[in-house]
Amino acid sequence: MIISKSFIKSFSLVTERGAYGASKFKGKNDKIAADQAAVDEMRFELNKIDMKGKIVIGEGEMDEAPMLYINEKVGTQKGKKFDIAVDPLEGTNFTAKNLPNALSVLAAAGRGSLLNAPDMYMEKIAIGPNLPNGILNLDFSVRKNIEQLSKFKKIDPSKLTACVLKRPRHNSIIKTLKDMRVKINFITDGDLSGAISVANSKTGIDIYIGIGGAPEGVLSAAALKCLGCQMHTRLVFRNSEEKKRAIKLGIKNIKKKYTIDDMVKGDTIFCATGVTSGSLVNGIKDLGKNFSSETLVLHYSSKTNKIIKNKHKK
Ligand code: FBP
Repeated sequence: MIISKSFIKSFSLVTERGAYGASKFKGKNDKIAADQAAVDEMRFELNKIDMKGKIVIGEGEMDEAPMLYINEKVGTQKGKKFDIAVDPLEGTNFTAKNLPNALSVLAAAGRGSLLNAPDMYMEKIAIGPNLPNGILNLDFSVRKNIEQLSKFKKIDPSKLTACVLKRPRHNSIIKTLKDMRVKINFITDGDLSGAISVANSKTGIDIYIGIGGAPEGVLSAAALKCLGCQMHTRLVFRNSEEKKRAIKLGIKNIKKKYTIDDMVKGDTIFCATGVTSGSLVNGIKDLGKNFSSETLVLHYSSKTNKIIKNKHKK
């Protein structure tokens, strides 16, 4: 399904309101309240849109999340059928501590087009645009992926920068990168911005590697698809319970390696509004009776790639 450009405005309003909700809790050390405020605002705005929307990535399954749960119907239930993936607040810690890079994020695609990723971990690897297809592969070792990138970018590994979420589970990846003298840009949270950073040469990030949330993986894939990048992912299961959950959500091959087109089929719109200012966009500014917002908006079929600055009534 080709998504009409007119939906850009409706979907960006959803993340603008979500970011505004979360922004009221900036620096208040309450990540649960910040997330809830983002969920409430987002859901209210989503339900105004003329569409038959279905949440495929949201706050969890129905029994654990009362709002924006997986399979919840959103929109007026008139019009086209959409899959909706949301991360009302990506960077709950960032918001609670008023640190950069907290975002409110949404991706939309036709019904059945987004991978219904369960709320568990996912291995991810991503590189930027204008590189030959197939040079990146999750089945290659970290060393081989770096060698490939170095070969096709025609630069020494010591001139490459990798973005890695700082977690003990990444120690062996970090060791290989250090052995190869690759520069590492560590992030403490927010691997969605981390993965998207490969798309923009100004960030200096050449590759994103590591394990983070699967929902963030699918949302990153929607953005990277619009930006002509490459990404491979695979679900990571910590126990048999997680495997059962994935199968229940319709994942047939739990060992499958996903490309961007496996995760996001066809057209997509991606919106990310800043809660706090960061590498992608500036955060919400309180202007008294109003607030201002900045949203990165991407639309695959119309090649839209812009930052929308808006002012809204609170
Ligand atoms: P939240 O905003 O939901 O807290 O997620 C932040 C985040 O850093 C994600 O960007 C990332 O995918 C995930 O958490 C990593 O999980 P963990 O903190 O368990 O390593």
